[in-house]
Amino acid sequence: MRTKYLYINTMGCQMNVYDTGQIQNRLAPMGFEPTDELDKADVILVNTCSIREKAEQKAFSFLGRLAPLKSRNPGLIIGIGGCVAQQEGKRILKRMPYVDLVFGTHAIGRLPRIIQRIAEKRCRVVDVQISEHISPDDFALGNTPASGTSAFVTIMRGCDNYCTYCVVPHVRGRESSRAADDILAEIRHLVSKGVREVTLLGQNVNSYGIKEGLCSFPRLLEQVDAIEGLERIRFTTSHPKDFSDALIGTFGRLDKVCHHIHLPVQSGSDRILKRMNRRYTRAVYMERVERLRSVCPGIAITSDIIVGFPGERPVDFEQTLSLLRKVEYDGLFAFIYSDRPNAPAVRFKDKVAEAVKKERLQAVLDCQEKITLDHNQQLVGTLQEVLVDGLHAAKPTASESETGGGASGELQWSGRTTTNKIVHFAAPSGQLTENQMLTGQVLQIMIEKAMPHCLLGSLQALEDAIKSPGKGDRIHAA
Ligand code: SAH
Ligand code: SF4
Ligand code: F3S
Repeated sequence: MRTKYLYINTMGCQMNVYDTGQIQNRLAPMGFEPTDELDKADVILVNTCSIREKAEQKAFSFLGRLAPLKSRNPGLIIGIGGCVAQQEGKRILKRMPYVDLVFGTHAIGRLPRIIQRIAEKRCRVVDVQISEHISPDDFALGNTPASGTSAFVTIMRGCDNYCTYCVVPHVRGRESSRAADDILAEIRHLVSKGVREVTLLGQNVNSYGIKEGLCSFPRLLEQVDAIEGLERIRFTTSHPKDFSDALIGTFGRLDKVCHHIHLPVQSGSDRILKRMNRRYTRAVYMERVERLRSVCPGIAITSDIIVGFPGERPVDFEQTLSLLRKVEYDGLFAFIYSDRPNAPAVRFKDKVAEAVKKERLQAVLDCQEKITLDHNQQLVGTLQEVLVDGLHAAKPTASESETGGGASGELQWSGRTTTNKIVHFAAPSGQLTENQMLTGQVLQIMIEKAMPHCLLGSLQALEDAIKSPGKGDRIHAA
């Protein structure tokens, strides 16, 4: 079998990152190897995101750049997958005559057959079929499932929450959970390949298994916690309306569950939360946060905020700012509201002017930056357990805040604390061979400096560090 090359451009959230791994696992037995050179590729796939208009535009602008490649190499297969593909379906074929394939979010299992057919018959294919239930066949274990210390594992797909701004229920289908045994088998497989940390994925992991009568999410966490060789467990996303006491309890009770939760609030105004169909109030949200902090003091909490949702008045926005000050998140993703096809808010009146949205976004970012830095500074002088994910070269163009103060091009180790904060630390000089063992290890790092987006630290004792078995010679020079 001749080696063929597969180029995938992955846009969007962790679900797409996971799906890209699945595509690679599916196509590997057909002789496809991943490449990051467009010119070398036999198949180019774009795994797209539709969450905001900008994301969709980004997908089309990348696809637009592929036209000349196709005229140079008519045998090339170009496919568009993911959420934009699901949303637009066959309209894409009309708009882009050089695209051979449109595959939706549930079509990944069928890709090998589809690609074979296109290669043989030079036909064009659209597969945006959506199925109600997840099945074990939707997942394929790979030979080389993850290239590092951490891996994503999808535990459910779709969403039934229908927040009024959101495209996800329309492009990912109904919520459906995967059997616990399949999830556990995949995690064991990943651990056997050297993975030490998994992030369990779903649009609302808190409602895992309820619809199908499977075990509860806390029960699933207990089983994952028992997997030998696994060091850390993360999960995302948690919907505040389903954030139960039982789940909160796992942070205090299960050793491997990391002390970080992403708990998107979206707005601090009850009036806007109602219009968003989020089904919790500010008071309920605050109560959940307080309970969480009483069970697990020091837990890091992060969130998503949408500014400029239709009908958001200055007083509503003030409530968002006051909530940010009250909760004191460790980090925040803030977005300008964007109209999405099929999402009900498209039709809502009282749209907020673009200039006002931009001002509000800036106000949120300014407010949060101080809080994040303040939280990071509180860690200076403490020892933190860091799971090392590799050795990276600081980007030549990176600012000091991005490199953590390291000179550009200089190699530095990176990892994360249990609270999900990025830590950079220098490799002791002249011991690179031993240092190669650091990837995949949990090390005690003394935090010396806080930056807005990361922490800078130092390794205390290399002898202790290399005692526990790491993953050998994996070095990532980014
Ligand atoms: N299931 C997750 C979120 C998935 S989308 C949850 O419920 O939290 C990730 C984030 O994108 C959302 O939390 C929201 O803040 C943002 N988002 C979704 N739709 C958006 C839109 N139309 N405009 C702007 N931001 C949006
Ligand atoms: Fe979108 Fe809401 Fe579902 Fe999250 S919970 S994916 S924001 S509809
Ligand atoms: Fe984007 Fe689809 Fe994820 S719309 S955020 S890639 S679920």
